[in-house]
Amino acid sequence: MTNVLVIGGAGYIGSHVVAALLDNGATVTVFDNLSTGTRENLFPTARFIQGDILDKQALSAAMTGQEAVVHLAAKKAVGESMQYPDKYAENNISGTLNVLNAMAENKVKAFVFSSSAAVYGIPQESVLDETCPVDPINFYGFTKLEIERFLTWYDRLKDIRFVSLRYFNAVGYDAAGRVKGLEKNPQNLLPIIMETAAGIRSKMAVFGNDYDTPDGTCIRDYIHVTDLADAHVRALHYLKTGGKSQILNLGTGTGHSVMDMIQKTQELIHRPISFDIAPRRPGDPAKLTAKADAAHTILGWTPRHSSLDEIILSTWRLYQK
Ligand code: UFG
Repeated sequence: MTNVLVIGGAGYIGSHVVAALLDNGATVTVFDNLSTGTRENLFPTARFIQGDILDKQALSAAMTGQEAVVHLAAKKAVGESMQYPDKYAENNISGTLNVLNAMAENKVKAFVFSSSAAVYGIPQESVLDETCPVDPINFYGFTKLEIERFLTWYDRLKDIRFVSLRYFNAVGYDAAGRVKGLEKNPQNLLPIIMETAAGIRSKMAVFGNDYDTPDGTCIRDYIHVTDLADAHVRALHYLKTGGKSQILNLGTGTGHSVMDMIQKTQELIHRPISFDIAPRRPGDPAKLTAKADAAHTILGWTPRHSSLDEIILSTWRLYQK
């Protein structure tokens, strides 16, 4: 793809996608309202439009000359989505429909969507492939699933082919240090471990150690954002070369527990991480890992940066500062 519009390109995952696209010679325009993304994450070689996906006119103007859209602009805090579903409906659902309508209007036909393993809800299997039942247990996951459903209709009716990428647990930072913005008020495990290691927090909580797992803490599939970004580049190439619409999991297939993550971090960065065992967090399944064979077969994608060492050290490099 030559001309690509990256909506949400100043965010954590979006900026890594921009880096990968630029590395592959694309001409990139970032469209972002900077609500959670930051200017620090912008690349001087990508054009930047500060705009909101609720602004139809701005979106339509941004589509001019684009061949493809990567859409990552979404609210993503699971807890908040249960408290303020209105915000999530407006931003994640209405906003994405605005994007799709602006694409249809401007004849942009290739779409890569940032979806989530949250669409599966409480899994019936601990290893999930794309044929597993979807039944989100939080409103955030519901918004992602709704969009996937709209996408099949926009494919049929508006000829927009898509690849929807269901991320498992996104972690890590660009090895070359090009992405500099830390997430504001992070809710996820690894940034919380890092904030504790860096002294930003005095202590962290481990939500439950009585799960049916070897050490009693929850197991997740942590995937490096550089690997996620690579899948976006491949998905765009796949669509450009005529591939049909797909929904694909992105994970490593290997799980690590909360205690694995804490212990490995302590070992690698030589700092103590103080924690308390707290009650279970509602809605946490014991174990969630991906079967990502389809992404391998269809996109030729294999995670190459998702060892715990690379994940933890690339993240620590930023938090250390
Ligand atoms: N955890 C703690 N303490 C914390 C934060 C998290 O023990 O302070 C635990 C959680 O209970 C969970 C594990 O660390 O067992 C991972 O939690 P995260 O919040 O980092 O991630 P989740 O697995 O809950 O969810 C993330 C994304 C979702 C996505 C999902 C896909 O936030 O959007 O991965 O697997 F759907």
